[in-house]
Parts: sequence; C-alpha cells; structure tokens
Amino acid sequence: MESSLRSAQWYAGDDRNAYIHRAWMRRGVPDSAFEGRPQIAIANTASDLTPCNAHLDEVSRSVQNGVYEAGGIPLDLPVVSLGETNVRPTAMLWRNMAAMATEEMLRANPIDGVVLLGGCDKTIPSLLMAAASVDLPAVVVPGGPMATGTFRGEPLGCGTDVWRLSEEVRAGTLSQKAFLESEQATIRSRGHCNTMGTASTMALVAEALGTTIPGLAGTPAIDSRLLKAAHESGRLVVRLVAEGRTPSSLLTKGSFHNAIVALSAIGGSTNAVVHLLAIAGRAGIELTLDDFDRIGAEVPLLVNLRPAGQYLMDDLQRAGGFLAVLREVRDLLDPEALTVTGRPLVDHLDEARIWDPQVITPRSDPLQPNAGITVLRGSLAPAGAIIKPAAASPRLLQHRGRAVVFDSIEDFSARIDDPDLDIDADSVMVLRGCGPKGYPGMPEVSNMPLPKKLLEQGVRDMVRVCDGRMSGTAYGTVVLHVAPEAAAGGPLALVRTGDWIVLDVRARRIDLDVPADELARRLPTEATVRGFAAPRRGWERLYVDHVQGAETGADLDFLVGSSGPRVSRESH
Ligand code: FES
Repeated sequence: MESSLRSAQWYAGDDRNAYIHRAWMRRGVPDSAFEGRPQIAIANTASDLTPCNAHLDEVSRSVQNGVYEAGGIPLDLPVVSLGETNVRPTAMLWRNMAAMATEEMLRANPIDGVVLLGGCDKTIPSLLMAAASVDLPAVVVPGGPMATGTFRGEPLGCGTDVWRLSEEVRAGTLSQKAFLESEQATIRSRGHCNTMGTASTMALVAEALGTTIPGLAGTPAIDSRLLKAAHESGRLVVRLVAEGRTPSSLLTKGSFHNAIVALSAIGGSTNAVVHLLAIAGRAGIELTLDDFDRIGAEVPLLVNLRPAGQYLMDDLQRAGGFLAVLREVRDLLDPEALTVTGRPLVDHLDEARIWDPQVITPRSDPLQPNAGITVLRGSLAPAGAIIKPAAASPRLLQHRGRAVVFDSIEDFSARIDDPDLDIDADSVMVLRGCGPKGYPGMPEVSNMPLPKKLLEQGVRDMVRVCDGRMSGTAYGTVVLHVAPEAAAGGPLALVRTGDWIVLDVRARRIDLDVPADELARRLPTEATVRGFAAPRRGWERLYVDHVQGAETGADLDFLVGSSGPRVSRESH
C-alpha cells in the first residue's frame, strides 16, 4: 500500500532493499507494522549514570502503549544521556554532542516521529535541539522532579541545600558529621532535582514553548499522572505525524516569547538563556540575549521556590502547577503561539487555579515586581553578560569594588581560604577561563564559595564575575556568561587583582574602571588565559574549534540551523 510516511522509503516495495529493512525489524510484529503505520522513536535518556532519568524506561513503556493504541509502532532509541552530577569536566561540554548524535540517529533511521524523554539538566535542551534540527514531529515528556526529602525536620532542596549546608560547615555553624548525615536524605526518590534548578526550569520552558502536553511539566516523577500523560503523548505523536505537524510548524518567535515570560515568572535558571538561544538557533528563529531582557524584565516573580524562595517542585504541583502560573501572566503571553495539541498555549489556561498563594502568588501580589534576567554590557562584557537579580542581594546590585582575580577554578580553590588573601566583603571576585572554549565546556562554577574568613565574619554574599555558568540551584550576586570569554580574548582576560569593577544592574552595565591606554599596554600578553591549552583530539578538539559564545547559545557553528528529515542514500 502507498504511504507518504518517511519510513516507507525503507519499508515499502518488493525489492531486495525493502526486504532487508523489514526482515531484521520483524521481531514478531504484524505485517501491518510495515504497511503505513508511523514508526515512532522514543528518544530515551534513561541511564544508571544519569540517576535523575533512571526511571524513564518505565515512562517509555507508557509512551509505547499510547503509540500502539494510536496505530503507530514504538521504537526504543537510547540516546546520549548526561548526568549533571557525574559527567566531567561538565555536562555542558557534551550537550551539543548529545544533540548532534540524537539528530543524526533520528535522521539515519526509518523514523516518522519522536517522543523525547528527558529530565536532568542537559537532556531536555539537547533533545529539543535535535528535534528542531531534524524537524520530525516531536513531543517532549519531562521525567518530573523527585519527592522532597527532609533532614532534621526541614525539607531539603537538592542541589540548593548542599551549597547552603557546605557553607555552614565552612562557617563553623554545622558539624561535618551532620553535613554527611544529610547526604542520605537529599535524594528521596526517582526524578530530577526538586528545586527551580535547570531541570525543572527546562521542563517548564519546554511546556511554554508548546512542546509538551499542557499541564504535564512539573508532574512529579512518582506521580501516576506522569505515566498517564506519557501514554497520551504516545497517542499524540501519532496524530502529529498524520497531520504533518513538525517543530518548524510549531516553534515561532512567539513560542520563545512565551518561554521567556515563563522563565521570568517562575524565577527559572539562568542556564535557560543559553539553552533557549541554542534551540532557537537550531529552529532558525532569531532570538537574542536582549530579547530576554526586553521580554522578561517586567514580568513578575510568582513562584516561591528555592533557590530564590522557600518551596519545592511538589509544592508547585500541589499549589496549582505551571498552568496556574501562566494564567496569571496570560496577558503577557503570545496568544497565537501553538502547542503540540494544535491549540494555542493560552487556550489551555482557563481551568487553572492557584490553590496555595504562598507557593504561587497571584499577579496582584507578586514576590517581586520585575523578575527577569538582566542583560549587562560594558567594557568588561562587550558582547553581554547576565545576572539574575531575583537571586542576588539588592544592596549589591549597584556596587564598586576591587577585583580579586582567579585564573581557573583550581587557582580559586587553592587560594580562596588562604588567611593572607587580600579580600574583603566589598571585593569583586573574578573567575575566568570558564567559558565554552576556556574550560572547555562552560561549567557551573560562577557562584564561587565565599572566603572562609569572610563567612566567619557573617558575610553571605559578594559580587562575583565569571565567564562560566551558574547552577540553576545556586544563588548570589553573580554576573555570569561574560562574553566574549577570556579564552576568546575578551576583556575579562585583562583584569588584574586590584582593578576597580563597577556593577550597575539598574543601568545594565558592568565595567572595568581601568584607563584604555593601560588596558592597551596589557595586550596581547594577558589576552590569553594562563593554563589554557587547546585539546588535541576527539570531541573536545571539535568543540573548542567550533563552539560559539554564550551570547548566542554556545552551539557549534556548523550545528546551527536545520538539515530537516531528508532521507539519505541507501546503505547497501
Ligand atoms: Fe539531575 Fe539536578 S542533578 S537534575
């Protein structure tokens, strides 16, 4: 029977090639599997080494049932998985590789549509980048946050509280023994981090982009409704294939507008900036750093979750969920941006309600009136840098201080607790060599721990400046993603300890207060970070040679854009 499916280019016909493609795939499936039924990949990031995603095999089974029920053929496709806490030097080094591998495997195989199973920080971004580039009908199923653990009667936000507790040990207010006891309580169940870290943020942002069933993102990993939604997502992708609805027909500038509004309203991770820029780049949508400031700056903060707030992801669900947040900012959303259901995102908000205004505050009483990520520029960051004011100390948002410079995270670790280090609460800590090229991979090191001697004096925040990223579960007055990065010759490479740095978030500026002629004298010898040696082979080599700056999403230059679902020449 004639079929317009992409997979028919493998399976249709009576020739030897079609015979080969079908014969090896039979595995007991009925003949109809090769006669016009859509072949649906389940791009599955389950892995024992990505503990946040380890349960996705069970989620995959629900997707498979939905695909079968709707007439499709589900096909498990294990893809590169990145466990945030294990992968060295940083999972971000491998995000583009994961995206490239998934894109290529979807294109290389007889696949008509895909369900994307992700969770831990880089997995949903890499899957969305892949889907945008291969442009096959796609639905995201986020694996959901873990249940909240408690320690000594207090809820623990995984990712966030480990920083707080370790700072308390360094400040002498918590014993080492108690700190280690808390380790057992941090990860209570399957699922990803339960704070408003990068995993939670990217799941919600994926929903705001329209790529999940509305109301799914944020469903806890242990909640049976996750499996129900996974089943529905399997059914839905079969429909998307039948209707020819691909990411390029769904994602628009309006979708990214909605993602930025959502990012601000939830007080989401700064990592979403670099991921959304990369996804937009793959989708061929012009999105700039300034769009985050322009669209997000005036959006109120409505979600009281750690690290900036008090509660955790299962509280968000109990309080009404993500759709209740979006309903509050409905007038700020693009009314036409579609979801995978075929209807605009705003059409899915009528039923949503806030059940606990402590967790989701109404628009009339926001936690902060302006919650967006602020984009800074100036002589220290000509191509841009970002700060999350909601996670910063208000008193430090305008600050002038002397730089204390560290050339690498190892240099920082070796010297930060030296009692003789010349540093005080007004100093500006500068860490460089942590950008995409410099590390390589742009690790989450920007939220440098404070010097022990200042912690003991009660100091809890200082201005920090770095060309790396910051964990979405961290907080503090941190200027990050400074671009161009030091290893690419940015002005950050020229800063010396003792230089004055001026931060003015209201004016959206970060400046190095050093005369231009003095900076010119420092060139070119200091324009390269000490210790930076380009890797000689492998992915790192490819990455360093081709990675772009954080201000455009840190994708590889040759991966920007889409190659679509074209079918390549025959293999035999
Ligand atoms: Fe996986 Fe936090 S470590 S989401």
